[in-house]
Amino acid sequence: MSPNKPINESTDKLTIGLFGFGVVGKGLYDVLHSTPTLRSSIKKICIKNPEKKRSIAAEHFTTDASALLNDESINVIVELIDDADAAYRIVKTALQKGKAVVSANKKMIAEHFEELLALQQRHKTAFLYEAACCASMPIVRNLEEYYDNDLLKSIRGIINGSTNYILTRIQEDQLEFKEALSLAQQLGFAESNPKLDIGGFDAVNKLSILLAHSFGVIAKPGTFIFSGIENIASPDSVRAREKQYSIKLVANAKKLNNGKLAAFVLPQFVTAKDELYQVENEFNALITESTFADRHFFKGKGAGAFPTASAVLSDISALRYNYKYEYKKIFHQRDTALSNDFYLKVFISTDDITKISKADLEWIEEWHNEISHSWLIGVVHAEKLAAGDWWKQDGVSLILCPDPVIEDIEYRKISKRSLELAGVV
Ligand code: HSE
Repeated sequence: MSPNKPINESTDKLTIGLFGFGVVGKGLYDVLHSTPTLRSSIKKICIKNPEKKRSIAAEHFTTDASALLNDESINVIVELIDDADAAYRIVKTALQKGKAVVSANKKMIAEHFEELLALQQRHKTAFLYEAACCASMPIVRNLEEYYDNDLLKSIRGIINGSTNYILTRIQEDQLEFKEALSLAQQLGFAESNPKLDIGGFDAVNKLSILLAHSFGVIAKPGTFIFSGIENIASPDSVRAREKQYSIKLVANAKKLNNGKLAAFVLPQFVTAKDELYQVENEFNALITESTFADRHFFKGKGAGAFPTASAVLSDISALRYNYKYEYKKIFHQRDTALSNDFYLKVFISTDDITKISKADLEWIEEWHNEISHSWLIGVVHAEKLAAGDWWKQDGVSLILCPDPVIEDIEYRKISKRSLELAGVV
């Protein structure tokens, strides 16, 4: 295919070269075969391991990437492998050859966002990745398109299905962490390296992509304050149950009063009044707040073969009408910067109080010592969390309180002064 050729001439058929035939690749194959109206067909599938038993005939497969990338009749590359480095090489070559690309590889996209954006501009070809963020939930295109004329104030949500599934099973069935993780793996929700899920990395990669489409900010995943759910201990779950909270891993991006953007991924205690409270199992959700529309709440399956394949399918379908992300906010509103100049109200629990850096806390509102466990509620400046990692070590868990972001300096001063007067700090 010659570069820049539109795909959607009415007679054109989408001829797909598929990379990967794992959970999602297989799901896409099945879904495409039950959607003949799309007039798309998979010409060849590139796989890593030719020995693995497959559910379709061997003639569909090759291990030679160039057989797909150099095939002029293939006008769409769908990349569904989980090796982010190999995915990057495939996507880059495909874009350079003027092929349209659909990918679900959030790690690869987040890490190479700027370069992939430049490649799309240079080669004037489409690169779509709805499946990379929240699987079946149509959020990338919504953030890109719908909120163009509205001023987004914040996005906040659950953007990793595996951790939400694990937390739900722990809370509802009192399963052990390992048992719940193993179930998430069996159900095809977890990454092949589940550390990416439970360590919060996957959610950070997705937040990085969402920031570009919601606020026009390109931020590498390493710039965010984040943690996962590995350190949440059973006393934390007990406390959540006592207070009728549920624990969720929540991604946040919020415009601060100083015009900058706070962005972080941390576990949070959520109350029954919070829309995220009801989001269970592998479901994802996102709440947008904007000046004129006020609040919107999106919810959908955030992991699994068919939910992810459905988003890939939607991107393939969008290619029929030559849809491309325009990155309007990046090109027209590129003055928003990330900032850690805000405070967070946190619950911190530990098996050893010497692990807590008390000097990093602005003030402490509650402190409880139990036999083998201590916990406190306090306020910390986000810059101090960004600068230190004591709160991520084994035996320490940090969970945001409900309504955790504090910007109001007066409130802070008054609270701190009253606690000083009371001799508490
Ligand atoms: N491992 C990811 C998750 C898959 O659990 O959300 C979908 O991106």
